[in-house]
Amino acid sequence: MNPTYDFSGRTAFVTGAARGMGLAAATGFAEAGANVALVDRDPDELETVVARFTEAGHKAIGITCDVTEESQVKQAVERAVAEFGSLDMAFNNAGIQADATELADISLDDFDHMQSINLRGIFACMKYELIQMREQESGAIVNNSSLGGFVGVPGRATYHAAKHGVHGLTKTAGLDYAARGIRVNAVAPGIIDTPMVADMKNAEEGVIEDMMRDVPIKRLGRAEEVAAAVLWLCSDASSFVVGHVIAVDGGYVAR
Ligand SMILES: NC(=O)c1ccc[n+]([C@@H]2O[C@H](COP(=O)([O-])OP(=O)(O)OC[C@H]3O[C@@H](n4cnc5c(N)ncnc54)[C@H](O)[C@@H]3O)[C@@H](O)[C@H]2O)c1
Repeated sequence: MNPTYDFSGRTAFVTGAARGMGLAAATGFAEAGANVALVDRDPDELETVVARFTEAGHKAIGITCDVTEESQVKQAVERAVAEFGSLDMAFNNAGIQADATELADISLDDFDHMQSINLRGIFACMKYELIQMREQESGAIVNNSSLGGFVGVPGRATYHAAKHGVHGLTKTAGLDYAARGIRVNAVAPGIIDTPMVADMKNAEEGVIEDMMRDVPIKRLGRAEEVAAAVLWLCSDASSFVVGHVIAVDGGYVAR
């Protein structure tokens, strides 16, 4: 049981929940007593993870959903509500990274693909979560941005464009719903030790070592350290925090 939060009776909806930061946040919600809808496009990983949650005594369901498909997102939110009766907390986290490429060499298809998951996918999830939360007149949404939502990094135009867009969605939705019992915020992780970063290490030699030179705390972050901020933003402890993006990055954007 989580000693800090009691989310009993509340429902959390987490995208990209099969691994990495999504899995860490879903675990945190479950340990704090929430009903958890784990949403991911990877059905096999999802099945394994949900079985582990159930064995541990958590109330969890797995929903296979590609966030680029509006109808699947709509169904995923509706399924979570049908199963648990409400939608109280959402972590819109599913995202991808791309190999570093200078802008002139990036195809428009690659640009669109990145936006379809990392920006449009977040928008689609927010839209259907907010339809439900608007009805309830309550809820907390946290989007997963990145240090890439604050700064540019050479070769990462499509990713950073999407993450800057996530900040715009977060702030605007925060304002749209602040007076209606719904808070929308975001986290902006630095370089976090997840399978995504392992994939980047394998794809591009030295890429993480290069980025680490700019990390004041001089280590990778842990998925649980980001999940801690997500849980806080979903809890009543952050009841006056609206439209804000919290950097969880070991000091990267403070430089
Ligand atoms: N790892 C980092 O250093 C880092 C830093 C800043 C921000 N982020 C952001 O954090 C989020 C999670 O990153 P991570 O490192 O945990 O990634 P990860 O690759 O380890 O996990 C991502 C999960 O999202 C799922 N997913 C991907 N595309 C999907 C789609 N279209 N529909 C549904 N599910 C999908 C994957 O199947 C996977 O389970 C991403 O938005 C990423 O951009 C990561």
